[in-house]
Amino acid sequence: MTLPQEAIIRSLPVFDDLRAFLGWLEAKGELLRLSEPVKLCHEMTAVQVAALRAGGPALRFDAAMQTDGTRAAMPVVANLFGTPGRVAAGLGLTRDQIDEFGAFLASLRSPAPVDGMRDALSRWPMLKAALLTRPQIVRRAAVQQVTAPLDLTRIPVQTPWPEDAGPLITWSVAVTRPYGSEAAQVARYNLGVYRAQVLGPDRLILRWLAHRGGAAHARTWARAGEPMPVAIALGADPATLLGAALPLPETVSEIVFSGVLRGARSELVAAKTVPLLVPANAEIILEGWVHPDDTAPEGPFGDHTGYYNSVDRFPVMRISAITHRRDPLYLTTITGRPPDEPSVIGEVFNDLALPVIRAQIPEVRDLWLPPAACSYRIAVVAIDKRYPGQARRVMMALWGMLAQFSYTKMVIVVDSDIDARNWDDIAWALATRMDPVRDVMMIDSTPMDYLDFASPREGLAGKIGIDATTKIGAETTREWGKVMALTPQDEAFAAALLARHLPVRP
Ligand SMILES: Cc1cc2nc3c(=O)[nH]c(=O)nc-3n(C[C@H](O)[C@H](O)[C@H](O)COP(=O)(O)O)c2cc1C
Repeated sequence: MTLPQEAIIRSLPVFDDLRAFLGWLEAKGELLRLSEPVKLCHEMTAVQVAALRAGGPALRFDAAMQTDGTRAAMPVVANLFGTPGRVAAGLGLTRDQIDEFGAFLASLRSPAPVDGMRDALSRWPMLKAALLTRPQIVRRAAVQQVTAPLDLTRIPVQTPWPEDAGPLITWSVAVTRPYGSEAAQVARYNLGVYRAQVLGPDRLILRWLAHRGGAAHARTWARAGEPMPVAIALGADPATLLGAALPLPETVSEIVFSGVLRGARSELVAAKTVPLLVPANAEIILEGWVHPDDTAPEGPFGDHTGYYNSVDRFPVMRISAITHRRDPLYLTTITGRPPDEPSVIGEVFNDLALPVIRAQIPEVRDLWLPPAACSYRIAVVAIDKRYPGQARRVMMALWGMLAQFSYTKMVIVVDSDIDARNWDDIAWALATRMDPVRDVMMIDSTPMDYLDFASPREGLAGKIGIDATTKIGAETTREWGKVMALTPQDEAFAAALLARHLPVRP
């Protein structure tokens, strides 16, 4: 069911499924169909990396080639969210609406009391958004048109990097719920994107890291000694994909939230062999069970850090059913040294989160997580500085108040006249406003991503905060430099003068 467009600020059509989004992209010239044979083993990765680096279109491989030399049974789609513009489009927005949507999300988190009728009417979009959060349960679903044999090897799964352990499902949206919940209680569901190593025709490994929603649910089933039902949606609609990739608080259900993103309610259908509701419009659903203590060594696989992960044990999922559309598409991506598709998604999420961060730390003007630093390990914050010591307070607020910064090992704070997204500007601030002894704060034994092998102990590491702001009050006893600038009039005069004499550059 589609609800009124003005419910939220989305300006693009509703994308009910992946193919609706692909059709829209194709009409915009943002989908490239490739009929040449491309090998699923490594070759496809090279094409994806090259397309992403060139800011290129989404890709549809019509002749994906399996390792045994046969042509895959279905087309493979990749580089779907390879540009910030396509991530925004997946959210139903244009790139310049991201800030506004971020502000809208921030207001949903902290609704202010209504102040009169005019104010109540201005909140109408939020009431409508609330309506969109109720999923709709359907009896017949496109994703159940075909019940396939229990054979994962028929799905064209990539082996992305040369030293990878085997085929790896990458855009898998894992659907779970905690022990003690009912299948109908979708508000308690978690959707997360966790890579899945294919072990054989009916077994795969689910690599949910310990702090993820899926892992938290798995612990509740393991404590009860019961097998856990799991479903994996492949090729879900863009709102479900992006909702699952967003680090939402545990109290917010991705299914509920994706309705707001989509601008239409989520459609769910009962899975065939497990007590779960699954996205009705996905391309493929894998159903199965995770039994307590059933784990297997996962990896190595290339990861978003640009390195191969070490081998680690993760839960095994035993597949009980595979359903798909009559003519399914398989959606894939790769993770590697940034830029990769998740880092492009991260850039847009960064902007979406900014108003939420500002609501908690009002002096923050801008915040950038450089994608090259694995999207979260370095943060640059621009602040409106008013009092001595403020930069350190902001560092501690980011690390302490906001869980998403626990793995950010370096925070650089700059003044708001510095472009926090421009390394040249940041370097100038570091070179002219920072003293390495006075302006660096280091702390030890803080939580850290276990993937960071540079930390001396697994999961525990130091943090560094660098204050590259102008020093004021008791922070300095010396006269501070005055920033040089020409007047806008002189600059305009120079531009006009040179424009008359110099050839126009193409
Ligand atoms: C393509 C892609 C692959 C990902 N792979 C993993 C993974 O293997 N393990 C993991 O824990 N998180 C992975 N993530 C990150 C999580 O999906 C993301 O942090 C999500 O917000 C987790 O949801 P949750 O907080 O509900 O668990 C991946 C994200 C993307 C976009």
